[in-house]
Amino acid sequence: MQDTSFAIHPGNKKKLENTPYHDIGDLKEFVQEHNLYRFTCEQGFVNILFYRDDIVRIVMNPFHKPTMKSSFAVVAEPEIVKVKIEDKEDSFSLSSSKLQVMIQKSPFRVNFYDQEGRLLVSESEKGMGFKESKEVVCFKEMDPEDHFYGFGEKAGFLDKRGEKLTMWNTDVYAPHNQETDPLYQSHPYFMTLRNGKAHGIFFDNTFKTTFDMKKEKEYSFAAEGGQIDYYVMAGPSPKQVLEQYTWITGRMPLPAKWVIGYHQSRYSYESEQEVRELVNSFIQKEIPLDAVYLDIHYMNEYRVFTFDRDRFPNPEKMMKDLKSVGKRIVPIVDPGVKVDPEYSIYQEGIRQNHFSKYIEGDIFYGNVWPGKSAFPDFTKSETRKWWGEKHRFYTDLGIEGIWNDMNEPAVFNETKTMDVNVVHENDGDPKTHREMHNLYGLLMGEATYYGMKKLLHGKRPFLLTRAGYSGVQRYAAVWTGDNRSFWEHLALSIPMCMNLGLSGVALSGPDIGGFAHDTTGELLARWTQVGAFTPYFRNHSAIGTARQEPWSFGPEIEKIIKKYIQLRYQWLPHLYSLFAQTSKTGIPVMRPLFIEYPEDRHTFNLSDQFMIGENVIIAPIIKPDTYHRVVYLPEGTWVDYWTDQIYEGGKHILVESNLETLPIFIKVGTMISHGSIKQSTTIPEKDMTIHLYQSESGESHYTLYDDDGETFAYEKGEYLEKQIRYQANGNVIKLTIENSVTGYQPTWKHWTLKVHHATPYLKLIINGKEVDAKDINFNTESNIASIRINL
Ligand code: GLC
Repeated sequence: MQDTSFAIHPGNKKKLENTPYHDIGDLKEFVQEHNLYRFTCEQGFVNILFYRDDIVRIVMNPFHKPTMKSSFAVVAEPEIVKVKIEDKEDSFSLSSSKLQVMIQKSPFRVNFYDQEGRLLVSESEKGMGFKESKEVVCFKEMDPEDHFYGFGEKAGFLDKRGEKLTMWNTDVYAPHNQETDPLYQSHPYFMTLRNGKAHGIFFDNTFKTTFDMKKEKEYSFAAEGGQIDYYVMAGPSPKQVLEQYTWITGRMPLPAKWVIGYHQSRYSYESEQEVRELVNSFIQKEIPLDAVYLDIHYMNEYRVFTFDRDRFPNPEKMMKDLKSVGKRIVPIVDPGVKVDPEYSIYQEGIRQNHFSKYIEGDIFYGNVWPGKSAFPDFTKSETRKWWGEKHRFYTDLGIEGIWNDMNEPAVFNETKTMDVNVVHENDGDPKTHREMHNLYGLLMGEATYYGMKKLLHGKRPFLLTRAGYSGVQRYAAVWTGDNRSFWEHLALSIPMCMNLGLSGVALSGPDIGGFAHDTTGELLARWTQVGAFTPYFRNHSAIGTARQEPWSFGPEIEKIIKKYIQLRYQWLPHLYSLFAQTSKTGIPVMRPLFIEYPEDRHTFNLSDQFMIGENVIIAPIIKPDTYHRVVYLPEGTWVDYWTDQIYEGGKHILVESNLETLPIFIKVGTMISHGSIKQSTTIPEKDMTIHLYQSESGESHYTLYDDDGETFAYEKGEYLEKQIRYQANGNVIKLTIENSVTGYQPTWKHWTLKVHHATPYLKLIINGKEVDAKDINFNTESNIASIRINL
């Protein structure tokens, strides 16, 4: 080739040694267009737009005017916000009633303050800019007191200070450890806690993004392409940040009651007979169960929307029989469609142009379970509609829940996924897979959720997903993928689910017992104890591993596991009431202690304890052969759930805990509700109890929520909301009980109030009237006073 110009090809020699970073430079021009503030700088363009008084969006494009189109994550529309502008010689400021954006003109730097003048987010010396003509990056100052949370599904401890995190949805079968990153989900969002106050940043860029929180004085977020596009949320409490973030990206819809019951899965229950036997064992052993999962073996050679009729001769009859005993079936649906000219889904996909393609028009094929497969282009609304409608196959059989797996999408090749050069049609705005990869699972979720919702005629669909992007909580619950039956993975799952909850994904859980590797009876027992309180409660295990059904390790372990599955059902009214709140506020049911105690440094990286709501602490045992642990109880007085023993908080205590015991603590002066033990959520509740943990003094408030548990009728007001206000003064308890919403007539007609730590001198005043002593049943052994109250 010496005789062609190739001889003087620049090759790689021209590549610069240290990729230069281009700072955005000085401000040159400012214009206001309605509520949008546009800044032109030497090396880029910046738009600033207030969404609410407490939320502002900053978009920077190095090359041209920014686009203000958001990703699929965003459901919020900007409100009209009154903004005061101040243009000074060196600076420029935009202030709402809750946030102030201070801009330094030369060089252009953006800092954010709250209404009290407290600095929230400040750009470091490097500000914003770009590298290699495509990578955008933003540098911020890190305060010594900063703690970072969120980031979706990440391994490691609760606080992510000192970590570098990447967002690129990835199928990771290799054992997850502290530094296994990225995993299946991408949530380019975090919350900063500093001196008891919180604020949040959501970097809405769907390319591969990285968050470098490793350095001492500076952190950064960067993306392989696209724009710097981020929202600053003012907080100032962690709960307010959650409310703000889920206002932008949406909230988890209220799950059906069966969704928060106990679920049993295995890769795979391989035949109808096996499924029936499994369910019969649960019934005979009186272990509650709401759902059984069908993994890939149910399909005809892994063709989605089919059944293998040799293994499952009559799926319709099976579903009907199971439903009659209160058990539901959740089948797996992967995105890969088997290449087979005689298979209707493949035929339709080809004929109707639903598969992901290269720009030249060739379909992308990759190997997954069915062998060579094509992948729907979920960026097209037509394709989402098509895919959603295909679920009629399942709903016609009586199925209400779907399990989406391998939707990163996972492909059995070197890169583990689709070729990044595939071009998704994206409804007329084509984009490469490099840009859309992280959205694939979210969009498949949207297609499935809405398809199911339409087909279920008013019933609430359930979707479980492995992959997702910010906003996935609108459609799906998330399980944390292929963990192992390791004690370390039990420990890892706790901060992982807490951080998912802090990222808006309130319904999450790991494979209880561990997916790969062989579990042990002790590990399964301890893990089920934790599972009874994780938002989503499913036992799942892999092909070829030790069986993991509750009875797999003999009667002693079975008894413990049964006790905790039953406990879950007793706690369901309380959990369901909390889920109802989450669906309105975004504040998760399972939450780290710092959300309730943001000033208490002992909570900042507390990764082996969590709270249920605002008054219950769960402190599980996560080590083998261990029958005690240190528990941190924040300020206040706490009661051991099992023994009613009282502990003063504000310190660490040592608790004994045999294999039957999960340490649980309730804050005095608060309430929790309990139902009865039942074999599935389909059995109507008849026995409602509200436990009140009496305090010397103080006030609290409890909201009990109930509805039919399976339809959307609650959206039309068909629900019950009971408000109980509590006031204590020595032996006198004053309660105000009010049914504030009565759109639903519950299946229980009366309920029992149980006052713990009561004395025979208890004086109970309900709605201003003293309860007659003869109506109070006082147990001298337990010191519990019981009173039966009509609905
Ligand atoms: C993946 C999933 C796992 C499932 C298996 C077979 O590994 O993460 O949960 O059981 O595929 O479908």
